[in-house]
Amino acid sequence: MSWKADLARYGRKGIKQALGAWIIYPGFAVCCYYRLYHRIHRRGYFQYWFSMLLWRHVVNAFGCYISPLAKIGEGLQLPHAIAVVIGEGVIVGRNVTIYQNVTLGKSHHTVPGYPIIEDEVSIYAGATILGPVTIGRGATIAAHAVVNKDVPPQTTAIGVPARIVAKAFPTPLSDSNVTSNANV
Ligand SMILES: CC(C)(COP(=O)(O)OP(=O)(O)OC[C@H]1O[C@@H](n2cnc3c(N)ncnc32)[C@H](O)[C@@H]1OP(=O)(O)O)[C@@H](O)C(=O)NCCC(=O)NCCS
Repeated sequence: MSWKADLARYGRKGIKQALGAWIIYPGFAVCCYYRLYHRIHRRGYFQYWFSMLLWRHVVNAFGCYISPLAKIGEGLQLPHAIAVVIGEGVIVGRNVTIYQNVTLGKSHHTVPGYPIIEDEVSIYAGATILGPVTIGRGATIAAHAVVNKDVPPQTTAIGVPARIVAKAFPTPLSDSNVTSNANV
């Protein structure tokens, strides 16, 4: 289940530790809300409105605007769950880490296309990723980078607009499938 993989990103497991993590890690709480409102959003009239209430609570309580229609793989970690914006068409792979003040969305409201974030990507504080770009597996997006082009796997994107540099220390990748959102 997705929440178990999310919990594992905080080094915890089981219901008892999940309760503690809910209190200690706001990012885990946000993930749980998202998992629920994403799951029920299209299941009927009452489920739709309940999902929007949960979504609205997350907006009010955490300042995180994560669309119910965004597809986010298991193992999401939000180390500081403040002002994270994820648009409705965004696809996020497994074991992705997203810091505070990150925006993933369209480049312009009239231009279609949302980012695809592959597995095990780290997106640092204040980064913005715009338009139909793909962030390759294991890539790093530096703090306050503005990314509007594809980022190859296992590289780092730095600056405004972002330039690609080789990673000093490539991330050891797990066996998870690249951008496999089949179970979201
Ligand atoms: C991207 C990052 C992980 C560093 O990656 P790295 O591969 O170790 O890169 P380096 O530190 O060797 O820096 C490489 C170059 O990019 C520059 N650089 C690094 N991070 C940068 C950033 N966020 N914006 C602009 N330039 C940056 C460095 O000054 C260096 O420039 P130089 O080659 O001219 O000297 C790190 O800089 C970063 O952005 N960390 C974010 C931390 C964060 O958000 N923490 C939140 C905690 S709450």
